Amino acid sequence: MSSVASSLAHSTRRLEGKVAIITGGASGIGASTVQLFCENGAKVVIADIQDELGQAISDKLGENVCFIHCDVSNEEDISNLVDTTIAKHGKLDIMYNNAGIADRPFGSILDTTKSDLDRLLSVNLVGSFLGAKHAARVMVPQQKGCILFTASACASIAGLSTHCYAVSKYGILGLTKNLAAELGQYSIRVNCVSPYAVRTGMMEMAGNPAEAEVMMSQMGNLKGKILKAEDVARAALYLASDEASYISGLNLLVDGGFSVVNPTLIRALGLIQ
Ligand SMILES: NC(=O)c1ccc[n+]([C@@H]2O[C@H](COP(=O)([O-])OP(=O)(O)OC[C@H]3O[C@@H](n4cnc5c(N)ncnc54)[C@H](O)[C@@H]3O)[C@@H](O)[C@H]2O)c1
Repeated sequence: MSSVASSLAHSTRRLEGKVAIITGGASGIGASTVQLFCENGAKVVIADIQDELGQAISDKLGENVCFIHCDVSNEEDISNLVDTTIAKHGKLDIMYNNAGIADRPFGSILDTTKSDLDRLLSVNLVGSFLGAKHAARVMVPQQKGCILFTASACASIAGLSTHCYAVSKYGILGLTKNLAAELGQYSIRVNCVSPYAVRTGMMEMAGNPAEAEVMMSQMGNLKGKILKAEDVARAALYLASDEASYISGLNLLVDGGFSVVNPTLIRALGLIQ
């Protein structure tokens, strides 16, 4: 094989030999990432509470993908997920803490209850914390590993989500940075992917998902393209691969520039529509 052909073959299998857990892997961004990681040579464990969907994806993708029932807010489930993965594959290279839930519709803080906050935090933040903790338990002795999270563009610019959702995602940014500080000594990288709005199971709850997707796309900064779950999966693939071998503590925004652009002035000047 020529060196060009060999590097091409290599570049299409960017996770060859790696073992990955993806929480929330039964739907949306997680399901796209399961498929992409598998295509890139990883052995993937789907962890989710949607048993039928998770098992169906595993059956479709074959022997390199399996499903384990896991409620990320339950520490026993997470501990069992990591231990079962180690028993099956002997190691854990990538822990992608992606499972998350959306809030009820936008509302004032005056109408927001403590139980709303508890519910969002228990899955989005505590679930991510527990996933990282138990991944670190096995990655520290390995002296290597990659921990990923899904936060959100709403943790970089205000007003995009409810207060509870925003708090849960800001917490993930803090966790990413603090863990990068502790785990760097063990050669464990910790990073985060932050998408703008994507049509997934989460958006299906929003009444008319097709309309919501078009509306969010029109509001986006980058025109001529609708953000898809696969675009987010590709960002996760990059961070999980050896191409990102010196990247840690990063919040990789997949938002077409939305969170860093304030178009008010250039729109008023007529420079953009
Ligand atoms: N879709 C968007 O617009 C968007 C934008 C920014 C961030 N995100 C984040 O992306 C991540 C993936 O969400 P998605 O958009 O693919 O939605 P989705 O609903 O399609 O997928 C979420 C998955 O998480 C699983 N899950 C929920 N609670 C769980 C629990 N307690 N334990 C285990 N699994 C659980 C669900 O069963 C589902 O399979 C979430 O963290 C979400 O907050 C989504």
